Amino acid sequence: MTNTRGKKEMNFKIGIIFFSFLFASFGYSSEKEALLAIKGLGTNLKKELKKALKISAVNAVEKCKIKASKITALAAKKGITVGRVSRENRNPKNIPKEWMEKYIEAFHKKEIEKKYLTVSISKDKMGLLMPIKTMPVCLKCHGENISTGVSEKINSLYPKDKAVGYTVGQIRGFFWAEY
Ligand code: HEC
Repeated sequence: MTNTRGKKEMNFKIGIIFFSFLFASFGYSSEKEALLAIKGLGTNLKKELKKALKISAVNAVEKCKIKASKITALAAKKGITVGRVSRENRNPKNIPKEWMEKYIEAFHKKEIEKKYLTVSISKDKMGLLMPIKTMPVCLKCHGENISTGVSEKINSLYPKDKAVGYTVGQIRGFFWAEY
């Protein structure tokens, strides 16, 4: 009798351990998938930018306008949506969602210095935010001294642009994912 009970308890414990591993690895794999989707998005955006800049910065602004949202939509995977946002956004669509606001503020204030952050948005939805730093190549279109041609192009395509005046190292915006 005792033996059977012991066995049952053992099986029960093994069961719990097994399921804990299963759930832990589910959580882990979707965070990993979200990171991969963001990485893919970043790589593709940079590739397009580099190609377009070879012609000219004015051309690249135009290409960004056409391609950025397509590339972003393509980066989404099954169960994962991704994008870019900024407090000082260029594309009016790239305004932070409500769940992001306080974390964006904390990243800007350097209260959070992690490479990225994951938060629970609701019972079955997670969010991920990753700051995007300004690099020298970004200054052509987001810096303090933008050429007249580029500036005119930006203003004609994005009349409400707020994404200028940055210096190297500042947070230009964020990649985000929901999964
Ligand atoms: C050739 C000009 C150009 C260069 C160089 C450039 N960007 Fe942009 N950037 C744009 C345009 C145009 C948009 C709006 C794209 C759209 O319509 O979605 C944009 C949008 C963004 C956004 C999305 C948030 C927003 O403001 O709409 C981020 C983040 C961003 N850029 C970061 C960078 C970073 C970081 C670099 C340097 C690695 C960089 N950009 C270089 C033109 C440029």
